[in-house]
Amino acid sequence: MEPGKHIVVGSGPAVMVQLENAHKVYMTGLVPVRALAGVNLNVAKGEFLAIMGPSGCGKSTLLNLIGAIDRPSTGRVRVAGVDLLGLSDDDLSDFRRDRIGFVHQFYNLIASLTAAENVELPLSFKGIAAAERAKRVEELLELVGLEDRASHTPSLLSGGEQQRVAIARALANHPDLILLDEPTGDLDITSGDAILDLLATLNREEGVTLILVTHNPLVAAWSARTIMMEDGRVVEKDGGPKPAPVKSEAA
Ligand SMILES: Nc1ncnc2c1ncn2[C@@H]1O[C@H](COP(=O)(O)OP(=O)(O)O)[C@@H](O)[C@H]1O
Ligand SMILES: [Mg+2]
Repeated sequence: MEPGKHIVVGSGPAVMVQLENAHKVYMTGLVPVRALAGVNLNVAKGEFLAIMGPSGCGKSTLLNLIGAIDRPSTGRVRVAGVDLLGLSDDDLSDFRRDRIGFVHQFYNLIASLTAAENVELPLSFKGIAAAERAKRVEELLELVGLEDRASHTPSLLSGGEQQRVAIARALANHPDLILLDEPTGDLDITSGDAILDLLATLNREEGVTLILVTHNPLVAAWSARTIMMEDGRVVEKDGGPKPAPVKSEAA
């Protein structure tokens, strides 16, 4: 598909994500599991949103619907002005590749590929030429502080390093929406802060919309808005922006 096919003509939607009465029922086991029970959510373009809530409340399911990885059982999901239900599977995967950076809870790196090759993959899928790919991969690994780990396979990397590879891969095609599922679970607080600082900078300076799932209030404090989920529903939404977290100036 030509680049920009999904870009809405005009000034672009001020709303990046819009869920209307989204339900998700998994039929995989013996009994149906209701993972989402009517979620309504608007996320503005350029927003930094955190999603919190107990294990099993539907956070990953919600992120998968927003990230075009899965479809709702009923309800509507619009991202960047595009109704995801109206897209074919092929168009959905192009949309995902071109517009969304997804950092999975367990990273989903390819074990047989090096860090550099993992980061390169979305660029190859997009048909970027080899020389440009190499330059971008170098830039991305440097951005996440892993330039000296380029030729390591995931099994030779720590959990935190694997996560940084996943973040570099998510950033590869300059997405306008980045989704992170419990992103700093494995990182020590220092490198966690560095990664959050990087994400916050992308949000602030490049207007990238960020949605992150976390169980850690210190991580959620980096966002401008936090919502709480429970039993497949959004139970608490807070209002306006919060003050920025206190950070050491020396960093
Ligand atoms: N692929 C699946 N098949 C069946 N049930 C699932 C699947 N994915 C998630 N669930 C169930 O849906 C509910 C919500 O899961 P999830 O979205 O992963 O929650 P969270 O990320 O908040 O821990 C849980 O009860 C979980 O067991
Ligand atoms: Mg989860």
